[in-house]
Amino acid sequence: MPSRRAAIAAIAGATTLALTLTACGQSGEGGSKESKNKKDLTVGIAMPTKSSERWILDGQNMVSTLKSAGYKTTLQYGEDDVDQQVQQIEGMITQGVDALVIAAINGDALSNVLKEAHDADIPVISYDRLLLNSPYVDYYASFDNEKVGHLQGSYIVDKLGLKDGSKKGPFNIELFAGSNDDNNTQYFFKGAMKELQPYIDKKQLVVKSGQTKMTQCTTLRWDGGTAQKRMDDILTSTYSHARVDAVLSPYDGISIGILSALKSDDYGSASKPLPIVTGQDAEVASIKSIRAGQQTQTVFKDTRKLAKVASSMVDAVLKDKKPQVNDTKTYNNGKKVVPSYLLQPVSVDKTNYQKVVIDSGYHKASDLK
Ligand code: GAL
Repeated sequence: MPSRRAAIAAIAGATTLALTLTACGQSGEGGSKESKNKKDLTVGIAMPTKSSERWILDGQNMVSTLKSAGYKTTLQYGEDDVDQQVQQIEGMITQGVDALVIAAINGDALSNVLKEAHDADIPVISYDRLLLNSPYVDYYASFDNEKVGHLQGSYIVDKLGLKDGSKKGPFNIELFAGSNDDNNTQYFFKGAMKELQPYIDKKQLVVKSGQTKMTQCTTLRWDGGTAQKRMDDILTSTYSHARVDAVLSPYDGISIGILSALKSDDYGSASKPLPIVTGQDAEVASIKSIRAGQQTQTVFKDTRKLAKVASSMVDAVLKDKKPQVNDTKTYNNGKKVVPSYLLQPVSVDKTNYQKVVIDSGYHKASDLK
């Protein structure tokens, strides 16, 4: 039995950080004997970037959930620089953290540092993005990533009236995918294409640029500016005598870039309505855009729940207990199938953003001013 985990497992009277997802953000453990015992245990949290609001919330939620369960935390952001993230994780290992929670910049670039963590007997939880090609990943906390794509793709066919047969098209669509070094990208794209492909095959949807392969559609580091440039190029090369009716976007930052390109090309005027534009993460800028009738949809993934799941995994492995998982098949990282707990994403548009994103307390109404 690994010494660090075994030692912690022996903590007298330890209770488990329960995976009760309805009570997000609340601590029921303050002041117990167990929290006193845990006070010297530190969890290292490595996040990819502060340039996107969602990861700021992820970091904050992880810290507050672990703190309320009695742990110390150290949180670092790699700012989309892979080497920097490796160094940060190495630093946490040297510092002697007791567990690591990692949302990778490049899921494939951390095998060496994960081996170092293993050699130091530090359990690793893969957070939202799967850590690849390493046997030293204990558990994975994420969402049903293929379902995210399904929600985006089915939203488009539904809104265009193709699903219920009220419209036949053809409609013009362009496709965007996420960063090619993020394992989630392929799941999002696959889920969306399962919905879109039947209509592309029937020519009711036409990808006028011809860029239909995922490798032609990826957006390095999910960068909005890169997406804006690609949309600009597509509009110039392909749409001088045609109009784009829908754009598959996998993430809100990319959606905002796409919308900037569209608006520079007069979309959004009375004679040239904006196309349907999907997204993901329910970031404030995108909820504002949805409210203003620009971005059409996003996919909400409650990072409070994700933090709760990841924290309960940390808590369990440190006590040498088995965390709750609900998927033991989907996420093969190249070396092992990583036992996972997958949460459910929710499609959000102007009809339900108030209830799902504001009334739930995820964003404050005042944030949208
Ligand atoms: C993915 C994540 C998405 C989005 C994207 C860009 O890994 O699952 O929700 O945040 O990164 O940050």
